[in-house]
Amino acid sequence: MRLDQNRYTTRLKSHHNFRENFKYLVNGSKTLSRQLSENYTKNKKGVVYIHIPYCSNICTFCNMRRNLKIPSPDYADLIVKQIKNYNSYNYIKDSKYDAVYFGGGTPTTLNKEELEKILKAIKDYLPLTEHCEITIESSITDLTDEKIAMFNEQGVNRFSIGVQTFSDKGRDILGRRGKKEIVIEKLNKLKKAGFSNVNIDIIYNYPEEDLNDVKEDIEIFKSLDLAGFSLYSLIVNEKADLAKKIKNAQNYYTNNFEREKMFFNCIVENTINDGFEFLELTKIVKPKRDRYKYIVRRYESEDTLPLGAGAGGYIGNILTMNSFDLDSYRKEIESMEDLRCMQMSPMYNFINKVIGQIQMTKLDLNTVENQDYRECIQNFMDELINEGFVEKKNNQYHLTIKGIFWGNSICSEMANILIDKFRQSQEVLSTNPHRS
Ligand SMILES: C[S@@+](CC[C@H](N)C(=O)[O-])C[C@H]1O[C@@H](n2cnc3c(N)ncnc32)[C@H](O)[C@@H]1O
Ligand code: SF4
Repeated sequence: MRLDQNRYTTRLKSHHNFRENFKYLVNGSKTLSRQLSENYTKNKKGVVYIHIPYCSNICTFCNMRRNLKIPSPDYADLIVKQIKNYNSYNYIKDSKYDAVYFGGGTPTTLNKEELEKILKAIKDYLPLTEHCEITIESSITDLTDEKIAMFNEQGVNRFSIGVQTFSDKGRDILGRRGKKEIVIEKLNKLKKAGFSNVNIDIIYNYPEEDLNDVKEDIEIFKSLDLAGFSLYSLIVNEKADLAKKIKNAQNYYTNNFEREKMFFNCIVENTINDGFEFLELTKIVKPKRDRYKYIVRRYESEDTLPLGAGAGGYIGNILTMNSFDLDSYRKEIESMEDLRCMQMSPMYNFINKVIGQIQMTKLDLNTVENQDYRECIQNFMDELINEGFVEKKNNQYHLTIKGIFWGNSICSEMANILIDKFRQSQEVLSTNPHRS
């Protein structure tokens, strides 16, 4: 069945959902040390990602890469060690890092001293740009006053706070700690401490949510004068606790898509038509308040230096992934040089950039030099224009609101078109190796 009389039968909700065919873009393997010893030319204005896979409370809906409760006592030291290891390579010393992102799990499950230690090591041993963005992801309850004060001293300049909803009913269903009043109080505290770039995560379409709940979330967000919010449509994982708790589950799942669309439109009507704009498919901001350099650089296909257990990275043309299992991660840090990574073809970088532009809701054809791929993209965009997903303005393709709603499905289709084209050209080359 086609949904919404569309070309798509499923709405992909996350950019993690469509990378399966990227396996065709792998063209070998390489050790990390070899990669870091080569002088790979790139803009080298990358980002640093630090994964803290712990949470002091497990929410009913979540299936992120994390463990419960107390972080291992040596976790911060392991990350510092990994930073120092990286620092011994010229490749890293010659790079510039424009954004640092602490994600998880919940980074603020580490105590003040541990977080401070990591922040200091990043500043001492990694080359950061002058206006480097430093983001801390946190829940409301793990963000204590003493951590806020330390973040201020250490130059943290951006927060991403997992609110999910202000509604006490919704917070209970999603398994979030702290009532609405406490959430509002903590967000005000962050602003009073001088942080202007505070963002929150909002989940919509949770069970028992109605239009008033969505409107209230947006009204409270606006009244707090925050920089922006991420909007995520709830993904119900069969194994998550929430799946067992849904009342009237048949009704929830049957009307899921219509409700999702209604809530999305309600959010758009109350923000985009009222002075806010999409920075990417799942991010609405006050113009110029949040530049979110971390995600912008990643969409530009710049390097991501991965720190911490379970962190994934992209260095030059290799994809690398630290072990999630802590013992294996410890061993990896001892002999980081031997870590085998996937080497990606130049096509991977190209597709990442095209998809990155669509994620940022605008695609400029002038950035595509290869005539064949350019034609492919143009044909696809023309189809999307006819179906109301895209508009052409000043030689750029802009996603419409409908296009943003279906953005991840569009990215998936675009990626598959380009990968197919690439594979065809590889086949031609292998049957006729003299053609280049
Ligand atoms: C890596 S989590 C970290 C946030 C932080 N641990 C917290 O919960 O306060 C980032 C965001 O992903 C979103 N998320 C996690 N699981 C989700 C799901 N099943 N469906 C939709 N969004 C989800 C939530 O909005 C969450 O805040
Ligand atoms: S939503 Fe955040 S706090 Fe809740 S379990 Fe997931 S990562 Fe942990």
